[in-house]
Amino acid sequence: MFSKSLLLWPAVALASVTIEDPSDVIDPKWWAADNAIIPDYNIPFVEVQPSDIVATHNVKGKAASADHTTWYATANDSSVLLVSEKGSFKGSYITFEKRGYSSNLDDASFWGFNAAINVANASTAVFDHINVTVHNGAAGVYAYGTDTVVNVTNSWLYSSGPVSHGLYASGNGTIYGSNLEVYSGGYRSSSFSGDSPAGYVYVKDSVAHSSGIGSATFYALGSIDASNVVSVSEKGPVIFADGAQAATLVDCDCTAGLLGGVAMFSSQIRNDADSPATLNLTNTKFTTTGKTMPGLWFGNLIGQVTLNNAELNTDSGILVVANYSQITQDFDYYASYEDNSSLKPAEITVSVSESNLVGDLVAYNGSSISWALTKHSTWTGAAYSGYAKSTFDVSLDATSQWTLTADTTVQNFTDSLRTLKNVHSGGFTLYYNSTVSTWLGGKTVHLPGGGKARPISLTSSRVHRNTQSWRI
Ligand SMILES: *[C@@H]1O[C@H](CO)[C@@H](O)[C@H](O)[C@H]1NC(C)=O
Ligand SMILES: *[C@@H]1O[C@H](CO)[C@@H](O)[C@H](O)[C@H]1NC(C)=O
Ligand SMILES: *[C@@H]1O[C@H](CO)[C@@H](O)[C@H](O)[C@H]1NC(C)=O
Ligand SMILES: *[C@@H]1O[C@H](CO)[C@@H](O)[C@H](O)[C@H]1NC(C)=O
Ligand SMILES: *[C@@H]1O[C@H](CO)[C@@H](O)[C@H](O)[C@H]1NC(C)=O
Ligand SMILES: *[C@@H]1O[C@H](CO)[C@@H](O)[C@H](O)[C@H]1NC(C)=O
Ligand SMILES: *[C@@H]1O[C@H](CO)[C@@H](O)[C@H](O)[C@H]1NC(C)=O
Ligand SMILES: *[C@@H]1O[C@H](CO)[C@@H](O)[C@H](O)[C@H]1NC(C)=O
Ligand SMILES: *[C@@H]1O[C@H](CO)[C@@H](O)[C@H](O)[C@H]1NC(C)=O
Ligand SMILES: *[C@@H]1O[C@H](CO)[C@@H](O)[C@H](O)[C@H]1NC(C)=O
Ligand SMILES: *[C@@H]1O[C@H](CO)[C@@H](O)[C@H](O)[C@H]1NC(C)=O
Repeated sequence: MFSKSLLLWPAVALASVTIEDPSDVIDPKWWAADNAIIPDYNIPFVEVQPSDIVATHNVKGKAASADHTTWYATANDSSVLLVSEKGSFKGSYITFEKRGYSSNLDDASFWGFNAAINVANASTAVFDHINVTVHNGAAGVYAYGTDTVVNVTNSWLYSSGPVSHGLYASGNGTIYGSNLEVYSGGYRSSSFSGDSPAGYVYVKDSVAHSSGIGSATFYALGSIDASNVVSVSEKGPVIFADGAQAATLVDCDCTAGLLGGVAMFSSQIRNDADSPATLNLTNTKFTTTGKTMPGLWFGNLIGQVTLNNAELNTDSGILVVANYSQITQDFDYYASYEDNSSLKPAEITVSVSESNLVGDLVAYNGSSISWALTKHSTWTGAAYSGYAKSTFDVSLDATSQWTLTADTTVQNFTDSLRTLKNVHSGGFTLYYNSTVSTWLGGKTVHLPGGGKARPISLTSSRVHRNTQSWRI
């Protein structure tokens, strides 16, 4: 169970609604020992998916169906149902109960060992009204391989223990989910996940709740497409994404408790500019609860963000961080050069439309944020470097407004109005780079609110740099 605040129009009053999820029925406290299991990935890695995945029910190379029944598996490293070798399965009103540990979490993660349901190798499965309960650490529904497609509707998924993602698509597999209620209590157990080389996950009209560190609502490796999902990730971001992945969220209301509303990074070599990671939040609201958590966090990544009628509510007052950093497999801190010396800065482009955003942009150690306000957007905030020189570009279309809350230094500043009447200075100075923002002619210009736009001089940039720092 978790609560969401609602803004009730036209009365401006905050109300709270309570959202039910499977943790209301099976109390995670009863499974605290499971949820405390810390995954160990320093174990031998099997290079291909073994064909001898053990399951109590097997559908290999044929079509089968079942309904109104309960199926179990209790042994370690075993599944309840395996559909493989171009098999197909249709299941309605089935309770799947899985107990038993994963002796090798790499096998669980890469090949779906121990998942309640494993659909592999160009197989398909369609489920409705299934109840999947897993204990001791196992994914709910795992889809593996090219041309594997799984549909799950009107279903309930509960898990305890590590690597217990609700829906988990890997090896190019695809899962469609709708009308789901998902809870996971363990470490690294995101509600809806993709895995290498890619998983394609589509979710709509669902509720998701995850409690463990490393457990996001969405883990993008491949693509995530979500609409009308209400979620809370108590100790994770709404979205983790590793590398040049794509996530689109429409009509979602999601709360994150650790790292950032999104934590998008490359755990390997940073992606190229011609294949950026993409994030699209449309009609979507993110709330971050940690005191230092930004709305959107990026490290060692080139990314393109679209915020269209998006809300980013942060306790920290930080909208976006771009950092020379990444996220390690501990999933609970921003890693540095000491963890991995082959990092690169983050380069993030954000296009904002129809949104009113309040908060700052912070870039670290050579990172950059390019921030474009379009279509009746407003921004109240400033941009500054966390440490070492980082750069910002800001552009405003004629319908958008910027209210400065501190002196801000921008490289490429463009304003379609050209009169700068949409830059409300509050007495602060907007420093611009006259080499890049040539249209201002290197002049000092008065802004509404008593402040000025002025070219960066070496002195002012030296003085200005690091006048503000990360608030921790
Ligand atoms: C899937 O196909 C691959 C390649 O043929 C094979 O190595 C693997 O064992 C198969 N997996 C299953 C579960 O049958
Ligand atoms: C199953 O795994 C658990 C936890 O690792 C272990 O204690 C138990 O001995 C295993 N059971 C068998 C039959 O191997
Ligand atoms: C699913 O099964 C669990 C335990 O097997 C039960 O407690 C829960 O109420 C069931 N959920 C639904 C929606 O039937
Ligand atoms: C996933 O797709 C890639 C690219 O098409 C392919 O090389 C790879 O074999 C596929 N992997 C699986 C497990 O199907
Ligand atoms: C699976 O779901 C997708 C998306 O809703 C739908 O297009 C497709 O027809 C479904 N497949 C089956 C076999 O139900
Ligand atoms: C460090 O990063 C490089 C590439 O960025 C990657 O290949 C390597 O695996 C990473 N090493 C560790 C220990 O994470
Ligand atoms: C963002 O997603 C919305 C909803 O799917 C779509 O209409 C829009 O074209 C997307 N924008 C970009 C830049 O991808
Ligand atoms: C930025 O990255 C550094 C490591 O380079 C890390 O120590 C610091 O915590 C990060 N801060 C944020 C807010 O990302
Ligand atoms: C900042 O980036 C440089 C590489 O440009 C790197 O050597 C240094 O360790 C980084 N500093 C931190 C605190 O990450
Ligand atoms: C201004 O922009 C030019 C061209 O990108 C760059 O070389 C220079 O370092 C910038 N100046 C400052 C003070 O940031
Ligand atoms: C500055 O930003 C504007 C608006 O995004 C863009 O059209 C222009 O090419 C940029 N100029 C430079 C020098 O990057």
